[in-house]
Amino acid sequence: MNAAAKVFLDSYGCQMNLYDSELVCSLLRSEDYLITYDYREADIILINTCSVREHAEQRAIGRLRSFGSLKKNKPRLILGVLGCMAERLGEKMKEVVPDVNLVLGPAAYRDLPRLLDEQLNGHNGQFITAQSNPGENYSGIRPDRREGVNAFVSIMRGCDNFCSYCIVPYVRGRERSRSPEEIISEVQDAVKCGFPEVTLLGQNVNSYRWQDVSFPDLLGAVAEVEGLKRLRFVTSHPRDLSYDLITCMAKGGVICPSLHLPAQSGSDHTLKRMNRGYTRGQYLEKVRKLRDFIPRITLTTDLLCGFPGETEDDFQETLDLIREVEYDDAFTFKYSVREGTQAAEMNDDVPENVKIERLERMIALTRKTADSSRKNMIGKIVEVLIENPSPKSALEWQGRTACGRVALVPGDFQRGEIIPVKVEEVRGFSLWGNKTTDN
Ligand code: SAH
Ligand code: SF4
Ligand code: F3S
Repeated sequence: MNAAAKVFLDSYGCQMNLYDSELVCSLLRSEDYLITYDYREADIILINTCSVREHAEQRAIGRLRSFGSLKKNKPRLILGVLGCMAERLGEKMKEVVPDVNLVLGPAAYRDLPRLLDEQLNGHNGQFITAQSNPGENYSGIRPDRREGVNAFVSIMRGCDNFCSYCIVPYVRGRERSRSPEEIISEVQDAVKCGFPEVTLLGQNVNSYRWQDVSFPDLLGAVAEVEGLKRLRFVTSHPRDLSYDLITCMAKGGVICPSLHLPAQSGSDHTLKRMNRGYTRGQYLEKVRKLRDFIPRITLTTDLLCGFPGETEDDFQETLDLIREVEYDDAFTFKYSVREGTQAAEMNDDVPENVKIERLERMIALTRKTADSSRKNMIGKIVEVLIENPSPKSALEWQGRTACGRVALVPGDFQRGEIIPVKVEEVRGFSLWGNKTTDN
């Protein structure tokens, strides 16, 4: 019955969700569903959602409502919600968007083909939510990747950190690691399929553990995979970033000299109530070690402003931290209350206009440190992994340096090539320069 059924899948949220969407495509294709990139020809529309901030949920709800309205002309259309919002709202999803037929959280996707079969076989119009399997790590399923140069490989799922503002541990469940054998074999597959770069994924990769294998052990082993050109990983929790990991990164090779190290705040008072498990001093000490051992490392971060009880002085300490670390890039957010988290019990006392104004100041300052970090690259020779033709000029290609900076290079290249480039200018958020034969 499902032979000709076409599925359109739209994804929001973090890299984990993108990876999960690739798992979902793989599960569906193995049951003969067809994936379409045009929602107008779809029999089934699935939205993989994010719950991390109120705004992320609102966007997904808007999208679901607009797809729901297609049912007027296509009553047999099946509309499904996947991902973190599906897990958070469950049955309640029906009240928010009455057109929804199917609600499946991130640990329930193995049931998706079967549930879609049921809907297609005459139960169309029913509303179904599936139980999440708490230990699910999708062992044995290979993601169905779209073309590109980077392949995501999940090394673990869930999170046990319970940072007080964060919904992730509630929607993604307890932390569980995948076996090194399975991870390495997935990386080998990705390389064979033509992906020169791999990014290992986990909410806190530093707490990866499989028997006596720690994250630095795993990283070292993955780095040995033949043919792999670049290896990255996200996210590192500053509390768990170990000396072993720093020395492993310092060996270089395919391991890229860049690290995403979310600070969230520069104030000890705030960090404590965020339940982050480190102080500003401990964070800065790790930054110093990283820069000592890996001098050309780029550091990026996530920063949160307007957390309950954050005073202007606390916020100034965050600005100071940005100045001190001179981040190469940063993702900045204003605090959004997530029902059920510890912080939701605190008084959300920073007025909205103050949150917005702090966010603007944080953006301006991180933009400044990022700009000067890019300008410091002028005159240097970098290795650029070519990704795609430049969206702005038919005469240039776009790629990334090992440090993760976007670079534009005039000429004609092939996706996946690594070329030496002399940086001549900064254009917006990108480096610009010609291919060079200098050393
Ligand atoms: N596991 C990763 C990231 C998880 S979510 C980590 O620990 O860094 C990505 C980012 O969203 C977080 O780093 C945080 O800055 C932001 N975030 C999480 N909860 C939020 C909330 N309630 N309001 C605003 N931003 C939030
Ligand atoms: Fe959320 Fe903290 Fe876990 Fe990151 S480490 S996902 S911020 S609870
Ligand atoms: Fe990722 Fe959003 Fe879920 S950040 S883990 S998709 S809540």
